[in-house]
Amino acid sequence: MSEHIPVLLNEVLSILNPSDGKTYFDGTFGGGGYSRAILEKANCSVVACDRDELVMPFAEKLHSEFPSRFSFTHARFSEIKKILAQQNIQKLDGIVLDLGLSNFQLEDESRGFSFNSKGNVDMTMGLCNETAMDIIHRCSEEQLANIIYTFSEERFSRRIAKSIKKNLRNIKTAEDLANAVRACVRRTGRIDQATKTFQALRIFVNRELEELKFILNESLELLNSGGKIIVVSFHSLEDRIVKSFFRECGYQKDAFQVITKKPIAPSEEEIEINPKSRSAKLRCLLRL
Ligand SMILES: C[S@@+](CC[C@H](N)C(=O)[O-])C[C@H]1O[C@@H](n2cnc3c(N)ncnc32)[C@H](O)[C@@H]1O
Repeated sequence: MSEHIPVLLNEVLSILNPSDGKTYFDGTFGGGGYSRAILEKANCSVVACDRDELVMPFAEKLHSEFPSRFSFTHARFSEIKKILAQQNIQKLDGIVLDLGLSNFQLEDESRGFSFNSKGNVDMTMGLCNETAMDIIHRCSEEQLANIIYTFSEERFSRRIAKSIKKNLRNIKTAEDLANAVRACVRRTGRIDQATKTFQALRIFVNRELEELKFILNESLELLNSGGKIIVVSFHSLEDRIVKSFFRECGYQKDAFQVITKKPIAPSEEEIEINPKSRSAKLRCLLRL
């Protein structure tokens, strides 16, 4: 498995500005790239979580290097209050969220995140109630079309839902699912026709947008004065939620300030080294 290259790491560090004695929350631990860099930058503490058990070995390694400054909980970031309460932490000086999938997840065939995968139609990141296979079986054609449209803005959602339902018996792997999409939509450019459908099912299965909205709401009262929320998002549905939430907060001029009037994007150099960073957008809100 190739390693996960943290996206916009220098930018996250320079905005967060980790300082001695402060406490930070990394809600999307992944390969631990952000947590490690924060811990190395200052004599601070990092409380991390990830919904995917796959990251446990990375978390254990980091804990063995920083036993008194790093803790990890296998949980969803929407459980932030519970995670902090368990450790008797009342306030934070920063929250970082690096949304989306890690390379480890993308390359894990058994998860079926990638549309050439021979793995199951699963798409769960961990701590989910249903798989993508459950969804395509449980939902009616109309419900499926609505999910695909709502979570990817795919304009052929109805046609795709029809094709998936028609081919349901033959859909065993992620590749079969992709083929059901390819059978009804013509490819026009470099992007595979199944991309949006996969994005939509993944977002729905993992309740990604609800998770994001929930933690944003929870985070406001958890931040110390001078504390920041930094979110790196990878598609417009997520970015829109972050942008409008931060803008609303920014109206309370004596309480919050939006640090990033425009989102920060990766440099051309970073995109060249790590093409997966291409669509990343970083936004930051400061508690005054
Ligand atoms: C892009 S990776 C993070 C990479 C990390 N910043 C690094 O530098 O290695 C995203 C991670 O967030 C996790 N994740 C996504 N949504 C989550 C949620 N709601 N709660 C907890 N973890 C989540 C995924 O399981 C994945 O491991």
